[in-house]
Amino acid sequence: MSAPAHSVRPIRKAIFPVAGLGTRFLPASKTVPKEMLTVVDMPVIQYAVNEAREAGIEHFVFVTGRNKAVIEDYFDLQPELQETLENRNKTEMLSVLKQSQLAAGTTSFTRQQEPLGLGHAVWCGREIVGNEPFALLLPDMVMMAEKGCLSSMMEVYNQTGGNVIGVEECDPDEVSNYGIVAPGDEVAGGFEIKGMVEKPAKNDAPSNMYINGRYILQPEIFDLLGKQKAGTGNEIQLTDAMLRLANEQSFYGTKFTGRTFDCGSKEGFIAANVAFSLSRDDTGTLVRDIIEGLMKK
Ligand code: G1P
Repeated sequence: MSAPAHSVRPIRKAIFPVAGLGTRFLPASKTVPKEMLTVVDMPVIQYAVNEAREAGIEHFVFVTGRNKAVIEDYFDLQPELQETLENRNKTEMLSVLKQSQLAAGTTSFTRQQEPLGLGHAVWCGREIVGNEPFALLLPDMVMMAEKGCLSSMMEVYNQTGGNVIGVEECDPDEVSNYGIVAPGDEVAGGFEIKGMVEKPAKNDAPSNMYINGRYILQPEIFDLLGKQKAGTGNEIQLTDAMLRLANEQSFYGTKFTGRTFDCGSKEGFIAANVAFSLSRDDTGTLVRDIIEGLMKK
């Protein structure tokens, strides 16, 4: 193990890359960022923010793009709405509203001006994060679990230090959609990562363990990203820079055991809506009846 517990630096900041065009959600994404589409009644982006908050994140860095300004508005206060709800004694709605706000001074917004890939989007957050380890959450991946994926990763990180990546198993036919890791020995509730490859062909994949969109990274990644050449899909790939960082630093994987919905695809987004509405007290019974009725037809 590379880093003893006492030298592990805390993770205070998280980056949320939200610059993607969302072409799979046209025509809605012409004017509504895909991160603002709702799973039941909460925008996709808020699931990731809540997960980060639960894991103790104090500062939220959004890497946005043109047409994404509404994300900044969303996390702001809405004094008129608040006043109206207060006057009407809508306490439950008021607490929902409060949950959706981020405190003054705890957010930063910067733009990825050109669509050069995930690695480039993360690099755009370098000055805001500065020289400290940070979390990275890809908001398309909406997760359902008793304990958030990032919280579980923090537990491993607090013992191992270094870099920690969330992973899950996928169908071997789907490895070419994801970053895939080569798992090594087990450590501290996780395992060492021996290799990584972005979107490999089925025959070249070192395993079926895919990177699920949650990362704890050391700040040295930024320099590597700044120098990283375009890779798969002619984009600057985070996985390629992580592979280079792995020559100098340790990488660990944490297997996430909850459910993940890839809300970057229509099917995943619909599945998330069904699953979350079934799991909620306010909608569960009714939605179950409706789905059962539809299935009979
Ligand atoms: C990105 C990462 C990939 C990861 C995936 C998870 O790919 O590059 O390693 O497995 O997110 O969603 P993208 O979905 O942006 O193509």
